[in-house]
Amino acid sequence: MSTYYRPTWADISLDALYHNIEQVRKGLKPGTKILASVKANAYGHGVVEIARAAQRYGLDYLGVAFLDEALQLRSEGIMMPILVLGFVAPEHLELAQQHRVTVTLYREDQLAAASGLTAQDERLKVHIKVDTGMGRLGVLGTAEALDFIQRARALDSLDVEGIFTHYSKADEADKAYTALQYERFHEIERYVRQQGWDIPIIHAANSAGSMDTPQWTGDMVRLGIAMYGMYPSDEVEKQHIKLEPVLSLKTRLVHTKQVPDDWGISYGARYYAKQNEWIGTLPIGYADGFSRMLTGKAQVLLKGTRIPVVGAICMDQCMVSLEKLKQHYTLEELHDQEVVLIGKQGSECISMEEVADQIGTINYELTCALSSRVPRRYIENGKVIAISNRV
Ligand SMILES: Cc1ncc(COP(=O)(O)O)c(C=O)c1O
Repeated sequence: MSTYYRPTWADISLDALYHNIEQVRKGLKPGTKILASVKANAYGHGVVEIARAAQRYGLDYLGVAFLDEALQLRSEGIMMPILVLGFVAPEHLELAQQHRVTVTLYREDQLAAASGLTAQDERLKVHIKVDTGMGRLGVLGTAEALDFIQRARALDSLDVEGIFTHYSKADEADKAYTALQYERFHEIERYVRQQGWDIPIIHAANSAGSMDTPQWTGDMVRLGIAMYGMYPSDEVEKQHIKLEPVLSLKTRLVHTKQVPDDWGISYGARYYAKQNEWIGTLPIGYADGFSRMLTGKAQVLLKGTRIPVVGAICMDQCMVSLEKLKQHYTLEELHDQEVVLIGKQGSECISMEEVADQIGTINYELTCALSSRVPRRYIENGKVIAISNRV
């Protein structure tokens, strides 16, 4: 649907997205390619619209976690190169080839299955993953990796377009471990170049690596969190790279009332209102990604003022105390007013990081949790250019 009826939505600023890309790009070697990581529904920002924006903006690649995510993009008409960063089963390589999806290769059974592929119009593009110290996916060991690359290159059905690795501690101030990973990776890269093997995209860095150690990125960076305007951690360079959050989460008060003394609020009456307390109801809850674990902790912005969420957060709704606004507004004036759960209002701001801290997680997890029930409005040049409602 390209419209929505519930008064809860996320604003996605494509202007901020482009700004963030440029902020990172200015520190990179000229000509470095950019892969936009759009896995997990583009970190909750809405995969189809973010992929379209990346395509319009001329980015080089999209990265997804598994084949299903890549096929969804193809079915939406996204034709730019897509790399599946995670595992693709040997029996699904042919499907990937048919849809011109690039596959990450690191297992012997993948290589065996690839040898059985018939060369179609285009060979199956692959990027070979090397484990240099993340311990997650990839061929382990320099000699083993080089041997794997050589055998993959020997197959007529494959186009070995890339080799990559993933840093595990690029977002930490101490770069010793990243240096070690880079050195292991660089040894492979050196050998490949010396042999004159034509493998054009050798890549290593995520957002943190792109920002803090741009000399260790290779031919392409894989940008996720920074593109969405969030710092990968508190320890990365923030002086010169100014990111703007892309996503704001908003709703409207759908009920305002004055309740009697000791009136229980929400399930379990974990909060009892004080005498004549003003209470408002917001149509957003844990099924939207506004975690129940935020009960007793969350604050929201109304009329530029921070007010507390009170009582248990329900599946579709939660309540706020309007006490702080009593002095300046009537209850009627507050009815239907816009409330910001994440983002700016007036001079106040509630960041993704603040909310993530409240429940002991990180910005990455929180944005991914924003469910498909929340309509997304996409803003470019200050105007809403698309609405996506995949309820
Ligand atoms: C292999 C790989 N590359 C790049 C990224 C993007 O990371 P970030 O969001 O920190 O930029 C991810 C995401 O976790 C990943 O798994």
